[in-house]
Amino acid sequence: MSGELSPIDKAKFVAAKRAAEMVEDGMRVGLGTGSTAAWLVRCLGQMVAEDGLNITAVPTSARTAGLARELGLKVVSLEEAKWLDMTIDGADEFDHDLNLIKGGGGAHLQEKIVATASDQMVVIADAGKRVDTLGAFPLPVEVLAFGWQASQALLEETLVSMDVLGRTTTLRMNGAQPYVTDEGNYILDLHLKRIGNARQLALVLNQIPGVIENGLFIDICDRVVIGHGDGTVIVR
Ligand code: 5RP
Repeated sequence: MSGELSPIDKAKFVAAKRAAEMVEDGMRVGLGTGSTAAWLVRCLGQMVAEDGLNITAVPTSARTAGLARELGLKVVSLEEAKWLDMTIDGADEFDHDLNLIKGGGGAHLQEKIVATASDQMVVIADAGKRVDTLGAFPLPVEVLAFGWQASQALLEETLVSMDVLGRTTTLRMNGAQPYVTDEGNYILDLHLKRIGNARQLALVLNQIPGVIENGLFIDICDRVVIGHGDGTVIVR
């Protein structure tokens, strides 16, 4: 499955493989979204097909659901599963306290719901995702399509009083059209450069009318499995 991989793909693959080994028979597992999470789904698919692993999976996007079904995983909704033993997902950034920026793939709303309905969240990431301070990666904020410009204006006003370096916000696009999430919403990407107080920002953003969820995951992640291009893995 891993064949000849670039160093970055190898890093993602080895992290995903190590996390897949944490999954035990009978578990209900949340599956993240993105290229690293796709490696996880492939690893779990192989374990189901070859080792007879018996798990129930709850995907965090239509993309992940499609891949999981294709690879023979038993897929159910969160409503059916009710509670999960473990969620394994990628991240765009993680810091020393295991706080995260997620949503580069536009799925952070479902990802946050699924992760917080789990006994534990394990993040899988290549070493390049580790940062001292969150914020170099644009922070995704999912907003209602209705009145999104009004939400954007309020958001930019709010950023003035926050401990951030940049204040530009952009509507995420899919070609000439706004990018639409699985729930039919839009995403504003916040180019903050450096987030001084991520905990406070996460709370404040969700108070703005029209904001549905932001991509800051504070005190949600329990462990990070960090893959390197040489095939080594560190678990924190
Ligand atoms: C999707 C996410 C992804 O986990 C994040 O964007 C990382 O993606 P990748 O593994 O492709 O680097 O949050 O909403």
